[in-house]
Amino acid sequence: MWTRRRLIAGIGVGLCAAAVGLYAERARRWRAASADRAGNPVRPAGVPVGPFDASSTAEEVTRGVDLSGKTMLVTGVTSGIGLETMRVLALRGAHVIGTGRTLDRARAACASARGRTTPLMLELTDYSSVVACAEAVRALSLPIDVLVCNAGVMALQTHEQVDGVEKQFATNHLGHFLLVSHLIDRVNDATQGRVVVVSSLALQWAAPAGIEWDNLSGSRDYDPNRAYGQSKLANALFSLELSRRLSGTRATSNALHPGVVDTRLFRHMPRSLGGFRGAVSPPKRTVEQGAATSCYVATAPALVGVTGHFFADCNPVIPDRRAVDREAAARLWTVSEQLLKPYLRGRANS
Ligand SMILES: NC(=O)c1ccc[n+]([C@@H]2O[C@H](COP(=O)([O-])OP(=O)(O)OC[C@H]3O[C@@H](n4cnc5c(N)ncnc54)[C@H](OP(=O)(O)O)[C@@H]3O)[C@@H](O)[C@H]2O)c1
Repeated sequence: MWTRRRLIAGIGVGLCAAAVGLYAERARRWRAASADRAGNPVRPAGVPVGPFDASSTAEEVTRGVDLSGKTMLVTGVTSGIGLETMRVLALRGAHVIGTGRTLDRARAACASARGRTTPLMLELTDYSSVVACAEAVRALSLPIDVLVCNAGVMALQTHEQVDGVEKQFATNHLGHFLLVSHLIDRVNDATQGRVVVVSSLALQWAAPAGIEWDNLSGSRDYDPNRAYGQSKLANALFSLELSRRLSGTRATSNALHPGVVDTRLFRHMPRSLGGFRGAVSPPKRTVEQGAATSCYVATAPALVGVTGHFFADCNPVIPDRRAVDREAAARLWTVSEQLLKPYLRGRANS
């Protein structure tokens, strides 16, 4: 009996160690792929490198920036990075429209921020809700200076779908694609409108060839982390193609990685592994630091006209070759339009 228990315990420890090793290896590759041989981040040419880094907070990167008179929409303000992003943008004077999956939760989050906020309901997996949210924003008849696509889910352990599409891809990418499509003309109305897409360096967890076009349902060989990686790759590619479509306008679109921050995002990760946090990269970043890159890309005067780039630690980086694949970005746009056809009527920015 005793030997059997020890054997089972041994197998358990072995499995955990193997899984932690796998995550650690992924983390090592993640860091290596976005750095040169000397360990410095790979930066795109011609994009200003600013004074901020991983330790900067959202308040620090927006100090001295006056956002009064500006309207900014942030999705997913009920916790984590979105809540802090809203708080700081409102603190700097912006009118922030903050979305939550229920109006009550959005209200409570908005009430916690100092400054002018407007709560709205947005459930990204319910495309009618996305259209209704966009209509409510349009009813305000205001230019949208900044639209932060922040809300997201990670590593859903069971394979779920929305209208036949894998749920993380549907939530993180398709829901935001639809929202932006319905509001992009309002972003264009602003003096220098910005779309800010919160992606992740976990986009490197997508399949080696990139988006699995023949498996958007996720039915074949579902892997929670690969599916998350694919949804975050889609975020980056969406921003890239949007920036191309916005060329010739004043508006810009950029994507970003906020850093690894200890938020509710990790709630779906298996507890036995201690979640993603301990295994991959210690959550050295606070939520105040985690919202810095979003707030910087949303507001930095130095970034007027900077578009189609990916930021991490408040600076431009090249996160992965798959995230700068213009052909894949164009294809993703077409595929997304096809999947959302019934909801896009009349408003798509195609
Ligand atoms: N934390 C990190 O280390 C990290 C790293 C890289 C990238 N990111 C990205 O950062 C963004 C914010 O994440 P976070 O860390 O702040 O996580 P979080 O604390 O879990 O916040 C996520 C937000 O998105 C909302 N949301 C989730 N599913 C939604 C849906 N179906 N419809 C509408 N809203 C939905 C959540 O609402 P509920 O509260 O109602 O669920 C919440 O407000 C995400 O896009 C994430 O992928 C985070």
